Amino acid sequence: MNDFMYTQCGPRSTFKPPLRGPETLQPMADHHAQPHGRLALVTGGGRGIGEAVCRRLAASGYRVVVADIDGANARAVAQSLGEGHHFRQFDVSEEAAVEAVFDDIEGSIGPVAALVCVAGVLLMPGGERSLIKDTTLEDWERTFAVNARSVFLCGRAYLRRREAKPVAHGRIVTFGSVAAQLGGYRSSATYIGAKSAVLGLTKAMARESAHMGITVNSVAPGLIDTDMLRGTVRSSGALDAAAANIPLGRIGTVDDVAGAVDYLVSEQAAYITGNVIDVNGGYRMQ
Ligand SMILES: NC(=O)c1ccc[n+]([C@@H]2O[C@H](COP(=O)([O-])OP(=O)(O)OC[C@H]3O[C@@H](n4cnc5c(N)ncnc54)[C@H](O)[C@@H]3O)[C@@H](O)[C@H]2O)c1
Repeated sequence: MNDFMYTQCGPRSTFKPPLRGPETLQPMADHHAQPHGRLALVTGGGRGIGEAVCRRLAASGYRVVVADIDGANARAVAQSLGEGHHFRQFDVSEEAAVEAVFDDIEGSIGPVAALVCVAGVLLMPGGERSLIKDTTLEDWERTFAVNARSVFLCGRAYLRRREAKPVAHGRIVTFGSVAAQLGGYRSSATYIGAKSAVLGLTKAMARESAHMGITVNSVAPGLIDTDMLRGTVRSSGALDAAAANIPLGRIGTVDDVAGAVDYLVSEQAAYITGNVIDVNGGYRMQ
């Protein structure tokens, strides 16, 4: 396939992000208007929010690499997107796997323009959300590995490669959670701790990569209707009761979240970095 196109800038020392003062704005600016064929790598793309992100970015003109530990799901999503999209199966918490996949993608497809780190885990095997006093070190380490270490590994792999081979409008989007912001809400302390780490890491990555014109932001979903959320439901009517406490009066959809990611990776979001977009129906209004 030679339909892959991307905008490549010169060496790092000469890279100058475009000035976008009011005088340069187009009156009908559309945040979907971006070069076709930019490459997006979406972890956790095999189902749920990640799958919706893959579909939205593909619709916006991205070529998508659907990545997931569940290779069958990743393959099915990539195939459903049509020609020009890819899938990769790997565990985002494993350093060697992350490096190998980045080498493979960048060598065989092209430079990743947008990295979207959706993969995460809430419940441990058995569906437990343990209190701190009952939490094993193993559960703590696994939760941090999948939710937080993965963002470090994928973010580092991306930034190393973008420093060597810049792209215009580089983007990283990470996934926090309303649980980290509120210190609770249907989740365990391990998950809250790991997602809090993601929020801090997002800002650190934003600061360290700003000179390359790369933005790094996080999306913090509230209650979104996915397998992850439904795994926490213990009684019928529980989700309706939860929805009643949300100002917008409903549980969120995966498309609600995908829309926020689509904006953050767009060229129009070029002056937003180190930020968090809450997608929670007003649950954590400040
Ligand atoms: N659903 C919600 O209400 C909600 C709320 C707040 C935050 N989030 C966050 O949003 C993100 C997506 O959540 P979701 O509800 O779609 O979850 P989900 O469980 O439906 O999907 C998560 C995906 O990540 C993949 N994955 C898990 N571990 C992996 C690993 N080690 N390597 C590669 N892939 C792995 C899974 O196979 C799955 O396809 C997560 O980071 C989650 O913490 C979700």
